[in-house]
Amino acid sequence: MKKGWFITIEGPEGAGKTSIMNKLAEGLRKEGLAVTATREPGGIAIAEQIREVILNKENTTMDGRTEALLYAAARRQHLVEKIKPAIERGEVVLCDRFIDSSLSYQGHARGLGMEDVYEINQFAIDEFMPDLTLLFDIRPEVGLARIQAHRSGEINRLDLEGLAFHEKVREGYLHLLGKFPSRIKRIDAEADMEQVYEDSLKLIMERVTGSVR
Ligand code: TYD
Repeated sequence: MKKGWFITIEGPEGAGKTSIMNKLAEGLRKEGLAVTATREPGGIAIAEQIREVILNKENTTMDGRTEALLYAAARRQHLVEKIKPAIERGEVVLCDRFIDSSLSYQGHARGLGMEDVYEINQFAIDEFMPDLTLLFDIRPEVGLARIQAHRSGEINRLDLEGLAFHEKVREGYLHLLGKFPSRIKRIDAEADMEQVYEDSLKLIMERVTGSVR
């Protein structure tokens, strides 16, 4: 039986996932919960190394399936090395991106097909799905404008895709929202940060305090 909770945060670029996730980790700790906050692709040394290969702007010839397999490989290592042990310890794991990113980016936007991408991911995660997924929904033009305005870090290979690609990413996410309504909950990420935080915390607390295990 699972002892902790696995919560993922999803959404297109510029949705504010990373800042809100860090704030949520603090908020949940104040509620007395033990929290591990992590991210994909990455979160541990091996997966960070895979991340460098995937997001390197020089890798312009990377095939779509190679990309999907690398994300799945990074996911596997991160899951067994970091996520599962934290859940075993009874913690709340907050993870910035997980399988729904692959379904939306590689499956839908890259056109590999959500079902095929789901299949290769099952080999990696073995049915270990999140208890709750917060989908930070934002129109791509708003998200991309935020990135232009605030980006301090590197622009990666996927950030360089055009608006049409990011429209498809959003379309993919909204499709998943319709398909898995009990697992995935929409957050209006165009609202101000405080509101996004409050909405997210409420959903997480409901799931954590309301679950019978
Ligand atoms: P990152 O800089 O972490 O972006 P963000 O801050 O928006 O999360 O880079 C991760 C990139 O990888 C992002 O463009 C989304 C993409 N991605 C996929 O295409 N598929 C995946 O399965 C995952 C986990 C990420």
